[in-house]
Amino acid sequence: MFDVAKFLIEGHKRLQGEILVHGAKNSTLPILAASMLCNTETVLHNCPVLSDVETCAKILRYLGCRVIRSGGDVTIDSSGIIHSDIPDYLMREMRSSIVFLGAIVARTGRAKLSFPGGCELGPRPIDLHLAALRRMGVEIEEDHGCLNCSAPGGLKGAKIGFSFPSVGATENVMIAAVCAKGTTVITNAAREPEICDLANFLNACGAKIRGAGESTIMIEGVAKLSGCEHSVIPDRIAAATYMAAAAATGSTLLISRIDPRHLEPMIPVFEESGCGLMFCEDELKITAPQRLQPVKSVRTMPYPGFPTDAQAPVMAMTALANGTSVFVENIFESRYKHVGELLRLGANIKVEGRVAVVQGVPRLSGASVESPDLRGGAALVIAGLAAEGITQVEGLRHIDRGYEQMELSLAAVGASIQRIV
Ligand code: UD1
Repeated sequence: MFDVAKFLIEGHKRLQGEILVHGAKNSTLPILAASMLCNTETVLHNCPVLSDVETCAKILRYLGCRVIRSGGDVTIDSSGIIHSDIPDYLMREMRSSIVFLGAIVARTGRAKLSFPGGCELGPRPIDLHLAALRRMGVEIEEDHGCLNCSAPGGLKGAKIGFSFPSVGATENVMIAAVCAKGTTVITNAAREPEICDLANFLNACGAKIRGAGESTIMIEGVAKLSGCEHSVIPDRIAAATYMAAAAATGSTLLISRIDPRHLEPMIPVFEESGCGLMFCEDELKITAPQRLQPVKSVRTMPYPGFPTDAQAPVMAMTALANGTSVFVENIFESRYKHVGELLRLGANIKVEGRVAVVQGVPRLSGASVESPDLRGGAALVIAGLAAEGITQVEGLRHIDRGYEQMELSLAAVGASIQRIV
C-alpha cells in the first residue's frame, strides 16, 4: 500500500491539558460484525473514526447492509443481506475480519472467506475459531487459502473448551451461538472488557448470554435478534498510550472518557514508574516525575493481566527511566519490531526471544523511524515526543487503524506534531 504520510514531531516539550479517549476499536469491530444478526436497525454510539472501523463498514456494505455514519454514531440496517463471502481485498485490509465468520454463517448458513494468513505480529492461526465452529455444526473446507463453510443442519449449541483464551475465537463463538439451536458453554473464554461489551450489545438485542467477563460463558440460543442502541466502551489501549505519553514527557495530563476499571491491570506499572494517578469517575489525572523509575517486570497476559497491546507504548516510556526494566511478551511471537526503531532514537534495549531488557537512558534524540505495526507506531510517537530534536514517524497507515486523529489529540495538549502528506 502506498503510504507517504508521516508525523513530524519536535520533541522534548511538556504536555498539559485534557485528552478525550475515543471508543474502543476492539469492541467496535465484533459489535459491527454482530449487528448483521439483527433484523431491525442498530445504532451504535461512540464508534471511533478509524481505518479498521471503515473496513468493517465496507464489509457490511458488501454483504448487503446499509451503513450510515454521522460523527460517532453508526446506523446499520442488515435487512438486505445478499452475500455470504468477503472478497480477498477486504480480508487483506484487516486481519480481524475473521470475526465476521461466525456472523455470516449464523445469518446465511454459509460463508466463504480467504484465510487471514500472517500479519506484522507473526503467524495468526485461526485453529481455535475453526475447531469451535465445527463443534457447532459448521462444515469447513480449507482449499487454496480459502475457507468454505456451510451449516446444512443450522448452527447448534455445543460445549467448547479453549486451550488458550483467544479474544477473537471467544467473540466468533458468542456471535455464532446467540441464535443457534440449544445452549453453548465456552470454558477458558477470554475475559477482556471488549467481550463484556459485545455480550451487553447482544443481550440488548435479545440474546441470552451469561458469564461474560468470567472464564465460563453460557449462551442460550434464541430465535431472533432485534436491533438496539448501544454505546461502545472507551478504548483502554488508547488511554494507556496517552498515559505513557504523559509519563515519557514528564507531564501532567487529564485523560477523560475512560473506564478506570479497565485500566486496573496497567496501573501498577505506571505507579512503579513513579507516576501519580488520580481517578475521578470517567477521568484520570496522571502526573509524571522528572525522571521515571524503571519497571521490574511487565509480563503480557490475557485479561486481567497486562495487555500485549500496551507493551510497546509502555516500553517507549521506560526507555528513559532511571534503571533497567524487563518485558516478557507472552501473547504474540513477533511483537518487538518497534525495538529496532527505538534504538535509532538512542534507546538501549536488548531482545532475547520473548524477553526485552530496557536499560533506561537519560535522553533520546530525534531520528527518522518507521511504524512496524499499530502499537509499535504509537510507541515511536511517544519516544519522539520525549526525544530532543526532530523525529519523523512514517507508516501512519498502521497508527490510523487504532488512534483517531492522534496528532490532533496530542497537539491540543501542547505537543509539536504535524501530519505531513
Ligand atoms: C485481539 C485484539 C488484539 C490483541 C489480542 C490479544 C481485536 C480486534 N484484536 O486479537 O488487539 O492484541 O486480542 O489481546 O480484538 N491463537 C491461536 N489460534 C487461534 C486464535 C489465536 O493460536 O485460533 C493465538 C494467537 O496466535 C495469539 C494468541 O492466541 O498468540 C492470542 O490471540 P487472540 O486472543 O485470538 O487475539 P486476536 O483476537 O487476534
